[in-house]
Amino acid sequence: MTSRRKFLKSTAAGLIAGALPVSVVKLAFGSEARDISFAYISDSHIQQVKGSKFVRNWDRGLMKAVAEANLLDPNPDFVIFGGDLAQLGNKPELDHGAEILSALNVKPRMVMGEHDYYLDLGDYWSHLFGEKYYSFDVKGVHFVVLNSILTYDEWTFDRWESGERRMNEMAGLDNPNGSPFMVGEKQREWLANDLEKVSHDTPIVVFSHSPIQKIYKGWNFWTEDAEEVQALLAVFNKVNVMYGHVHQIQYNQIGNIAFNSVMATAWPWPYPNSYAQAKSHLPVMTVEMNRADPFNERDATGWQLVDVHSGRVDVNFNLYGNQNRTVSFNKEKNQPEDIKYSTHSKKPAQKHY
Ligand SMILES: [Fe+2]
Ligand SMILES: [Fe+2]
Repeated sequence: MTSRRKFLKSTAAGLIAGALPVSVVKLAFGSEARDISFAYISDSHIQQVKGSKFVRNWDRGLMKAVAEANLLDPNPDFVIFGGDLAQLGNKPELDHGAEILSALNVKPRMVMGEHDYYLDLGDYWSHLFGEKYYSFDVKGVHFVVLNSILTYDEWTFDRWESGERRMNEMAGLDNPNGSPFMVGEKQREWLANDLEKVSHDTPIVVFSHSPIQKIYKGWNFWTEDAEEVQALLAVFNKVNVMYGHVHQIQYNQIGNIAFNSVMATAWPWPYPNSYAQAKSHLPVMTVEMNRADPFNERDATGWQLVDVHSGRVDVNFNLYGNQNRTVSFNKEKNQPEDIKYSTHSKKPAQKHY
């Protein structure tokens, strides 16, 4: 059963509502029987044109998400930004992105994206935001942030003549000169240690930028050591992995792990053809995403309000130019599903690619 959540703060709601699209005022999210809620904003790709001029579409997408997240009532337990704050990772872009995020009521927790990283290997991002991977606990749920966009040392350190070249090679969606993402051995050791002190009954929510599953290598919707990370999580009863990077709605269940993607505030990616070509490919799709309307700069973009209850996540997509969607965990089927669009009755493939 769903009930309408009071969305706007009562103070100055009238004033603010006047400045926002009707869809925001009408947002009706989830169940009230939730334990934790958080706002999840991702993939703003702030891009410098020249000097203090930035690509307007990407700017506006992030500003809108920040303004709307500030209006959540009740306040979320925290806000997370899912990576790819900048497009090419330079200081003006990261500074501008940080400035927009600084308008949030609460300081956001941050995830590293490849667009933030490959210019200077995350130095300036870390100067602004701190650790690249870490964990924290909220109301009995253990949250882990991974930096999943690392890759082979040779590619990172030896192959390219400059950081700019390296960034450009990693920035393309289908560039064959890119390299598969990975969490890496050092961080997996850290994760194993971090999880050692956590009871197996404790719900776990992992935030990564790339999916910790292998979806489509051609576009780097892929994490090379996904199975090794999944194995570390296998002993826990309830695990949820949430990721950005793909700029489209995906969900999947592998063993004990529920996977959910989130949308970008910048632009949507289409679904790769291979999803439709091979029935066994992950993930099970709901509906094909409408391609962005070039005359509507906010089409197929948005941000998420996530409810965590009974150790599982419900993802409420606030889609700026489209109908809102909810992907919630179906306890009977033991998998996430899109409440409105899930017409398939078959269980998603448990294994593998
Ligand atoms: Fe992205
Ligand atoms: Fe990305």
